[in-house]
Amino acid sequence: VKCLQKLDTSLRRNIVTNVVASSAEAPQKDETDEKEGRKSFSAVQVERQGQAERSVLMSCPPKINEKKFLKYFSRHGDIKKYFFYERNGLYAVVEFAKRECVESLLEATKIPCLSNEFPMPFKSRLLSLSHYGSAASPNQQSGQQCQPQTTIPIDQLIDRLSRKESIDQQVTSLMETYQLTDDNSRLRFLVCSLLQDIAAAYFPECTIKLFGSSVNGFGKLGCDLDMFLDLDDISGRRTKKQESGLFLEYQLKTVSTERVVTQRILSFLGECLDQFGPGCNGVQKILNAHCPLVRFFHHPSGFQCDLTANNRVAMKTTELLYLYGELDPRVRHLVFIVRCWARVHGITSSISGAWITNFSLTIMVLFFLQRRNPPIIPCLDHLKDLAGPMDNSMIEGNDCTFVSDLSKIQLQRNTETLDQLLHEFFEFYSAFAFSKMSIDIRKGKEQIKPVKNHLHIQNPFDSSLNISKNVNAAQLERFVALCQESTWLLEQTKTNTPSGKGGSASTPWGLATLLQPTNVAEIKSNRKRRVGLTSDRIKGLIESLKNGTQLKKS
Ligand code: GTP
Ligand code: MG
Repeated sequence: VKCLQKLDTSLRRNIVTNVVASSAEAPQKDETDEKEGRKSFSAVQVERQGQAERSVLMSCPPKINEKKFLKYFSRHGDIKKYFFYERNGLYAVVEFAKRECVESLLEATKIPCLSNEFPMPFKSRLLSLSHYGSAASPNQQSGQQCQPQTTIPIDQLIDRLSRKESIDQQVTSLMETYQLTDDNSRLRFLVCSLLQDIAAAYFPECTIKLFGSSVNGFGKLGCDLDMFLDLDDISGRRTKKQESGLFLEYQLKTVSTERVVTQRILSFLGECLDQFGPGCNGVQKILNAHCPLVRFFHHPSGFQCDLTANNRVAMKTTELLYLYGELDPRVRHLVFIVRCWARVHGITSSISGAWITNFSLTIMVLFFLQRRNPPIIPCLDHLKDLAGPMDNSMIEGNDCTFVSDLSKIQLQRNTETLDQLLHEFFEFYSAFAFSKMSIDIRKGKEQIKPVKNHLHIQNPFDSSLNISKNVNAAQLERFVALCQESTWLLEQTKTNTPSGKGGSASTPWGLATLLQPTNVAEIKSNRKRRVGLTSDRIKGLIESLKNGTQLKKS
C-alpha cells in the first residue's frame, strides 16, 4: 500500500510544470505540489477556483520565444504559473499572483480590427496573442513543451502496457497516460471561471461549480466538463424569517415551480453563450430533460460542456467519490482500470442509453472495496457517524451528511494487492446475485432489491432511487459475461508475462490483455475454454490434496 501511495504522490509531482514565482526568470515548484497532506474536497475547489480567477487563456502564434512571452506578461505583475498546449494551434494559460494583474492585462488588451467581420463587444479572459511585424524574428523558438490534453488511442496504450514488466508498472503507465493532469485540471477550472464571468453579468452573486469526473478524482483526459450554476445566494433558500419590525424584500418575477426557474435561467444563459460567448460553439438547450441542461463545445479547450443548475446533490456525490478516492490509492487505481476496461468493451458509452454509466460503475467498485475482508473503505453510514456539526447537509429532504475531514477516518489494515483486487472484482461481479440483490454503499452490504430493475444500485443520498434503472437485461448480461471472461484472462496472466512466456516484449499481457477489444462471440468461445480450465483446476486441486501440497488461492 505504501508503495502505491508513493507512486500516487510521484505521479502528482510529475505533472506540475512551468511554475514561476516572483520573476519570469525564476521557475519554482508550486507550493501545493510539495504538500503531501490529503486536502478536503472544498479546500481543493477553493484553491483551484482562486487559480482560475487569476488566469487568462490565449491562442498563440505557432512559434514563440518563451523568455519574451514571460517578459511581456510580467509587466502586469508576478506570474505564478504558465503552460502551453496544442489544440489545432498553440494555446497558453497564464496564472498571475493577483487578480489585479489580470485587470491590468485586460486594460492593455485591444479590440481586434477586422476587415470583413464585426466583433460582438463582449470582453472576456479568452485572448489572442499575436506578433507585430514579421513572424520570423531570430529569437523565436518553436516546440513549446506541451503536455497532451487527450488520451492516446487504445492500441497505443495496449502496446505501451505490454512492454511493462509488472502489473504495478502497467497501472502506473495507465494512470500517467489517462488521468487528468494538473494542467488539464487548471484548464477545466479556467473554462468554468470564464463561463461564470458570462453568467455573472446578469446574476452577480452566482457561482458556477465543477462536479463529476473533472473533480471527483476519477477523471480521464478528454472527459466532459460537468458544471452547475449555483444560485443559492439569490434563490431565497438561505433567507431567514424575520420575527418582527420593518424589513425590505426585492420585487421579483415569480413562476409556478423551481424547475421553471431553472429552465428559464438556463435558456437565457444558453442564448448568451450562443450569441456572444467567446469560444462556445454548438449550443444546445436540453431543457425538458429530467435535469435541464445547456450543452456546448468549448473550442479553445476542446471540452464538451454540460451546464446544469441547482444540482447540489450531484455536488455532494462528487465530494463523496473524491473522499473515497483520497482514502487509499487502490481505490482510484481500481476505478480507473475498471472504467477503462468497461469503455473498451462497450459496457459504457459516450452516448446515453441502456448501458451502465461510469458513475454506476464507480459505485460498484466502491461497494466491492467495502465488501473486502477487512474492508478497504468504510460505508457511507460510518462516514456520516464521523461528521462534525459543519458537515451537516440536508438537500431536498435528503440527509447528505458525511465527514469532510479526511484525517478523522481510520482505515482497517488490508494488504491486498491491486492485481488480487482486480481479479476478485471480476469474480465478485461474475457471481453477484443481481436478480435479487441491490448494491448499497450506504450500508456497505447488499440489500434485497425493492423493485424489479435489472441492475439495482441505490442512490447514496436517496435510497428510494436506483441510479442504474436505465440498464437493460442484455447490458447486464454482457457485463457479467465480460467479468467472467476477464477473471479467466487474469488467471492466464499468471503464466503469460513477457518473461514467463519468453515471447516478444510487446505481446499483450496483464492489463493489456484485459483492454483488448473483444466481442461477445469470442467471449462465448472463451467461456467454453474457461469451463475446461475450471475442471482442470479442480483436478489439480484434488491432485495436490492427495499429495498434501499447501494450496494458494489462484
Ligand atoms: P464521465 O463519464 O467521465 O463524464 O463520468 P462522470 O462521473 O462525470 O459522469 P457524468 O458526466 O455522467 O455525471 C456527472 C455526475 O453527475 C456524476 O459524477 C454524479 O455525481 C452525477 N450523476 C450522474 N448520473 C447520476 C445518476 O444517475 N444519479 C445521480 N444521483 N447522480 C448522477
Ligand atoms: Mg462527466
